Amino acid sequence: MSTTHTNKIDIIKAPTSKINEVDFENLSFGSVFTDHLMECDYTNGEWQKPVIKPYAPFLLDPSARVFHYGQAIFEGMKAYKDDEDAVWLFRPDENYRRFNNSAVRMAMPEVPEAVFMDGLNQLLQLDEAWIKKGKGNTLYIRPFMIATGRGVIANPSDDYKFMIILSPAKSYYSGEVKVLIAEHFSRAANGGIGAAKAAGNYAAQFYPTSLANKEGFQQVIWTDDATHTKLEEAGTMNVFFRINDTLYTAPTSERILDGITRKSLIEMAKKDGIAVEVRPVLVSELVEASKNGTLKEIFGAGTAAVVNPIIGFSYQDVYYELPKIENSYASQLKEELTNMQHKLAEDTFGWTVKV
Ligand code: COI
Repeated sequence: MSTTHTNKIDIIKAPTSKINEVDFENLSFGSVFTDHLMECDYTNGEWQKPVIKPYAPFLLDPSARVFHYGQAIFEGMKAYKDDEDAVWLFRPDENYRRFNNSAVRMAMPEVPEAVFMDGLNQLLQLDEAWIKKGKGNTLYIRPFMIATGRGVIANPSDDYKFMIILSPAKSYYSGEVKVLIAEHFSRAANGGIGAAKAAGNYAAQFYPTSLANKEGFQQVIWTDDATHTKLEEAGTMNVFFRINDTLYTAPTSERILDGITRKSLIEMAKKDGIAVEVRPVLVSELVEASKNGTLKEIFGAGTAAVVNPIIGFSYQDVYYELPKIENSYASQLKEELTNMQHKLAEDTFGWTVKV
């Protein structure tokens, strides 16, 4: 292994690369990781020097707070390679901002911009061979922070580990997506941590989602915890509904994640002249629109899922199939978004950032 000392980050290079063992055409989402990771520890009340080093397991004390109280947050981002081999990020400042908002909510220290951004940029430069050209090819970026402090006292940890790992990725969903609308379970409640990208928000969805999976649904659309009448978000993505030619999506709240793809699509759709209404959408409206034929599309939006059409939904044991549609907003917005991200179309919003 060779070690490079830059002024800010130590880089310890892996002696060999695993890249030739990877079948880039058949990637299962989030299962293959690049040669290196970035790590920075928080101890004695301050962030220590970050290091980029070979991807490998690491040791933690069994009493580390993350295991007992779930003090853990993460982000999801992607890097793209253009036809000239330049590497691009999409709105990374938004991920950085949201990460630190999540940290504050989970009583964790905020990560300095230099650690997050410089660490990410240098890691991407080192593992750039893992970013393949061509639409559909991306490198999924997973920054995360865990509480590493010892002791099972139910207090915030004194020590933390911030890491970034990278995973080459194609689409999150490989087939058609049908969803179950939640009648009983909730994703989040007012005053809780729904707006934070906290690991526990996702763990809490696994059981109800597994019940939905058994019935043939890939995802659950969560409804508000108080009345179960308002449509909120799906497990891995925010959701949009097209009724007639208007696009509806729920407003962000203490219960709903402020999705970066979500907010980008809202701006893009408006620029395209599509009517967009950000307001609570009722389950009863959706059922009614499906019955009277005005419900044209439902789609999810997220970094991993990109823009994913939903072909039908079930509510109170009735399955509602969506019509096949030409000129779908989902296809139009996905095309525009991925063209922008891969630098195949002009980025008129200034959202793409070169690494
Ligand atoms: C993402 O879209 O990046 C997410 O964080 C969702 C995750 C469950 C894959």
